[in-house]
Amino acid sequence: MLRLAQTLNTLLVGALERAFPEAASAARQAGVPLDPQLGPASKPEFGDFQANGAMALARPLRQAPRQIATAIVAQLEADPAFAALCLPPEIAGPGFINLTLRPEVLAAEVARCLADPRLGVEAVAGGGAPVVVDFSSPNIAKEMHVGHLRSTIIGDALARVLEFRGHPVLRLNHVGDWGTQFGMLITHLKLVAPEALTTADAVDLGDLVAFYRQAKARFDSDETFQTTSREEVVKLQSGDPTSRRAWQLLCDQSRREFQRLYDRLDIRLDERGESFYNPYLEAVVADLAAAGLLVSDGGAQCVFLEGEDGTARQAPPVIVRKSDGGFNYATTDLAAIRYRFAAPPEGDGARRVIYVTDAGQASHFAGVFQVARRAGWIPDDGRLEHVPFGLVQGEDGKKLKTRSGDTVRLKELLDEAVERCEADLRRRLAEEERQEDESFIEEVATTVGLAAVKYADLSTNRITNYQFSFDRMLALSGNTAPYLLYAVVRIAGIARRGGANAAGVAFPEPLVFGEPQEWALVRQLLQFDAVILEVEQELLPNRLCSYLFELSQVFNRFYDQVPVLKAEDPARGSRLALCRLTADTLKLGLGLLGIPTLERM
Ligand code: ARG
Repeated sequence: MLRLAQTLNTLLVGALERAFPEAASAARQAGVPLDPQLGPASKPEFGDFQANGAMALARPLRQAPRQIATAIVAQLEADPAFAALCLPPEIAGPGFINLTLRPEVLAAEVARCLADPRLGVEAVAGGGAPVVVDFSSPNIAKEMHVGHLRSTIIGDALARVLEFRGHPVLRLNHVGDWGTQFGMLITHLKLVAPEALTTADAVDLGDLVAFYRQAKARFDSDETFQTTSREEVVKLQSGDPTSRRAWQLLCDQSRREFQRLYDRLDIRLDERGESFYNPYLEAVVADLAAAGLLVSDGGAQCVFLEGEDGTARQAPPVIVRKSDGGFNYATTDLAAIRYRFAAPPEGDGARRVIYVTDAGQASHFAGVFQVARRAGWIPDDGRLEHVPFGLVQGEDGKKLKTRSGDTVRLKELLDEAVERCEADLRRRLAEEERQEDESFIEEVATTVGLAAVKYADLSTNRITNYQFSFDRMLALSGNTAPYLLYAVVRIAGIARRGGANAAGVAFPEPLVFGEPQEWALVRQLLQFDAVILEVEQELLPNRLCSYLFELSQVFNRFYDQVPVLKAEDPARGSRLALCRLTADTLKLGLGLLGIPTLERM
């Protein structure tokens, strides 16, 4: 419906200019054209939109807002284009103009969406500057944990929405594959499992993670070990072939493990780990020095941060080079920002760079963003955004742990979701005395189980901590994946019985609606484009989830209260059209969240 809102806005601007020509031309010259302040109606009984501009104009025009509204409405009513779009406007309260679209306009909009594979969501002109989504980003030789799972699920959904809108998206997996941890690990492995450094898969990944833990403990307590580890990092970073080979083996092994999870969740990522930026680290330091930002502090090279007003801030400085000469996480991120905004071929030429990590990294990103901005690496229209999310907690509100107190392994977590779905499904089939073959059971359990995990994560406001609960995410009622997947299945069934599923079935032209439940559904359906644009801007997938949940509820109310298959045409066909557009919207919306739908379950 954004298209209609735009048309309406143009008509309102025209009406304003005709009603107040002098003020309008003065405002235009001053570079602030009069704004009708069009927005969605604050309550459904006020219509579809409201224009609040009369209030703001009262002072400059020295007229009462109601008088201004009356003048605008008089102009609107004299405009045939407006009369074709809206019912006669109403002035409410101090001077709000309430606007209601004509029923036939809404019905035509439904028909238009139905015929459009994009369901009315416009695409930005293609070939624009890429958007980088930096997400998932686990660390080599460490366990991928629930925080990475959240990043993976949220990042993928955001990337899908941006791609759907037509942006070229770089889905970057900024894996931790560089730095001190490799020095520690390689040094330790040389002592305890040297074969791991020369032969692929000589130890399995679980052991590798355990070795890493031992190495870390040793690093923290043993000074000689620390020195050797540091030397090992230097060797690796300077390209020593033996170190490189060992590093490569460790990376390959972790990478294969990560990939299994991505395949299972249908997530595409391009790996560009921290090591990629190694060749650019010196240049980062040189740039910062040239910009006069570097300060030496106890042997370390730092950039001190500024407060919003340009004053020095109390926050700790961003360290770009440690006193031992080594670079760190922040240096790599600075190099990444510099590279991502730089023009190709020496960079990605991005205009928007999005980082999906836990909220604990907020100050890290605030710091590096500021340094990058002051270094002049970010174009004026460049956007750098940290998309933070809260912790995953168990049902007890504490950090998610297994019963035995270990960190939860992602594979086991997904397995359990699928197993529970399978058990539920078998129970339901037995109750309904339904016979289904094993491949059906497997497909449904896998789809619903994985969907439940993804949706539970996406549907909470990501900023808040999130309580992981299988019972809640697998419930058939409430704002859950099973509930939405059921809605799709239910509508598919109606369409099958109504014969509206077959290709080429024509819906009545024009579509006609009369019942309030139909109008409620029409209006909900036509909000889809606005919701997608909102997610594109605000990067909050839970907005799309709430929309889809509400849509299913509005649909159920409609279907429970208004006859569809038993109605006479054109009502029957028009109602089937609403069923079909609802199903299409749910499928597309869930698809943008990375959740496939089912025809039967
Ligand atoms: N590897 C990091 C972690 O596990 C996340 C990296 C996020 N991306 C970035 N460009 N810093 O916490």
